[in-house]
Amino acid sequence: MEKHILIISSSPRKGSNSEALAIAFANGAKDAGHSVEMVTLARQQINYCRGCFACQKLLRCVLRDDGDIIEQKMHHADVLVFASPIYYYNISGQLKTMLDRGNPLFCADYKFREVYFLSAAAEEGEDVPKRAISSIQGWVECFDKATLKGSVFCGGVTNPGDIEGRQELKQAYEMGANV
Ligand SMILES: Cc1cc2nc3c(=O)[nH]c(=O)nc-3n(C[C@H](O)[C@H](O)[C@H](O)COP(=O)(O)O)c2cc1C
Repeated sequence: MEKHILIISSSPRKGSNSEALAIAFANGAKDAGHSVEMVTLARQQINYCRGCFACQKLLRCVLRDDGDIIEQKMHHADVLVFASPIYYYNISGQLKTMLDRGNPLFCADYKFREVYFLSAAAEEGEDVPKRAISSIQGWVECFDKATLKGSVFCGGVTNPGDIEGRQELKQAYEMGANV
């Protein structure tokens, strides 16, 4: 069954390592016959959630910006993929801001059932992404019908493009191909 996959990439850098994972995931998913849309937050105007809770009645944010448009894309996707650099052992602020802006989804009839997380960091080791994964898990747990199905982490990459040739790209491709 063809699924519609929305990938939200949150690194501000050109040649981003986490975005390379996102592209590999997208290629795997496309090769498997799914439709894929990628949104790069760096090119968007996204204001902070105001915490007004109007969205819980309106099922839409009162702010009219790119965050509102992306939230509606999240609403209609079957699969959500979040890609982030590890910043201070957590997800990027850019991604956290977008996840908060996803608050209208909380009471809505959202479609997504599967969520994936892709991340990259300078340090190696499975402990490096654990708080970031836990942050994503916390967000997903607020959506009863969805589960965090998988994550790929690539450590030891500091500069843009460092990820080239790393086997984690293949892992991300395979994950996308098996959605
Ligand atoms: C503000 C900031 C915080 C960072 N914090 C960490 C960290 O806690 N642990 C780590 O291993 N790398 C850290 N890094 C390095 C990035 O995770 C690394 O450069 C990664 O490749 C960035 O991914 P990107 O290319 O997708 O932007 C940090 C970088 C920045 C700019």
